[in-house]
Amino acid sequence: MAEYDFDVLVIGAGPGGYVAAIRAAQLGLKTACAESRETLGGTCLNVGCIPSKALLHASELFEEAASGKLAKLGVKTAGVELDLEAMQGQRKDAVKGLTGGIEFLFKKNKVEWLKGRASFTGKDTVEVAGRTVRAKNIVIATGSSVTPLPGVEVDNDKQVIVDSTGALELNKVPGHLVVIGGGVIGLELGSVWRRVGAKVTVVEYLDQLLPGMDGDIRKEASRLFKKQGMELKLGTKVTGATVNGGKATLTLEPAKGGAAETLEADAVLVSIGRRPNTDGLNLEAAGLTTNQRGQIEIDHSFKTATPGIWAIGDVVPGPMLAHKAEDEGIAVAENIAGLTGIVNHDVIPSVVYTWPEIAGVGLTEEQARERGEVKVGKFPMAANSRAKTNHEPDGWVKVIADAKTDRVLGAWMIAVPAGTMIAQVAQAMEFGATSEDIAYTCHAHPTHSEAIKEASMAVLGKPIHV
Ligand code: FAD
Ligand code: NAI
Repeated sequence: MAEYDFDVLVIGAGPGGYVAAIRAAQLGLKTACAESRETLGGTCLNVGCIPSKALLHASELFEEAASGKLAKLGVKTAGVELDLEAMQGQRKDAVKGLTGGIEFLFKKNKVEWLKGRASFTGKDTVEVAGRTVRAKNIVIATGSSVTPLPGVEVDNDKQVIVDSTGALELNKVPGHLVVIGGGVIGLELGSVWRRVGAKVTVVEYLDQLLPGMDGDIRKEASRLFKKQGMELKLGTKVTGATVNGGKATLTLEPAKGGAAETLEADAVLVSIGRRPNTDGLNLEAAGLTTNQRGQIEIDHSFKTATPGIWAIGDVVPGPMLAHKAEDEGIAVAENIAGLTGIVNHDVIPSVVYTWPEIAGVGLTEEQARERGEVKVGKFPMAANSRAKTNHEPDGWVKVIADAKTDRVLGAWMIAVPAGTMIAQVAQAMEFGATSEDIAYTCHAHPTHSEAIKEASMAVLGKPIHV
């Protein structure tokens, strides 16, 4: 009998875990992956990135048709109607197709799926659904769950106070949706329901939306979402909620203190952040603890404090993003296999998939200025020929470069396809590009990406089209 059942056991089959498992198997390691959900793919594929994007896409098309935007382009539509059941159906299909795809990839790569919740019984042993498994390497990739808000109890089944999972599954458009938390989830899912007819109020504790993003982006985001009809209550906290007759009454107070007010809602989305999943893992048996934020600490190669145990994704420090988890999944598998797996955590793009999209990579202007002298170039989408032609005037691209070396330190943008455009800057930064390198790279015309070239030219003080 072999000493170990597996070379690698991954706990959790989200973008971190399933990618780690597949990469480990590709590298010739005998690999298993424990997952307690009925389908693979984790938060991202089941209740996160994918279903939210399915609804964002469909609701965007609905709004284009229903608001008369298409008619302005000469595309007349009569009697535009929302078929929420069909919209929800295509969301479910997208999830089914992609989660099924991971199951296929597991089979193809001979990754064994251990169905059930994994719990450590020792430093190299884990119990899953009554089976004890011993592995030479264990990767913790258990992801994260919604942070609860005391006094505002989520009950997704009742469809009144919901978290992001419940907000994806509403079976009717709420008359008034109150979103608690003006972060990524609140703005994406708030946009979905506003587009299909809900009045949306966003209650945000801080005095701006989207904490962590560049200051100009945060200001512009408020302006844009207000223009789209969202009501924003910034600098406001929710202190409690009651549910009666299918409606919620929220108590609100200014974040800095002051008189309370109430707000009625047909549905409430609690989206105030996510916290790492370690409950039930029995980390003690693995010789591990969590930090103050509930995360498992790792070193640059994803090793935890216990030899042979590694951790990646939302359960470790860093942004809670699927692509960061995926890259860590590849790197950890390569490290386990004796190769050199590296993730450059300074260059992780982040995207808010609203309309227009909001994207950034690297340092914000505020962070860059704290570190030294910088040059900043900005170019408005209103002056970009493709955006103009498509009637998409909102937004801009901002490129931040080191004043002495001209090396690009970060870029932030609001543009309809910003989520796709940001990849160019991420790659340029990986290659250590200067703003001049981008400015002198030939960009196809007419494309939104030319705004990145022009913003880089603006860093050098010589854009052409403004
Ligand atoms: P997860 O995807 O959370 O997967 C962890 C898995 O581990 C889960 O399936 C869980 O069931 C399983 N698990 C946990 N404990 C155990 C155990 N003890 N035993 C067995 N299995 C266990 N990120 C983006 O980059 N882009 C987006 O557009 C985006 N949209 C999002 C939209 C929403 C609504 C939400 C909620 C999140 C979104 N995210 C997005 C974030 C993204 O989903 C996460 O960053 C990503 O899923 C993290 O991957 P992970 O592998 O670390 O963990
Ligand atoms: P978030 O951290 O993005 O935003 C939470 C917001 O809630 C913050 O603005 C915060 O100030 C506010 N808040 C906190 N407590 C509050 C309170 N009591 N009252 C009012 N406001 C309060 O978290 P969110 O939106 O829940 O998303 C969780 C994670 O999921 C994020 O870290 C994000 O990275 C990831 N995600 C990524 C997406 C993407 O990449 N497009 C999409 C959706 C989620």
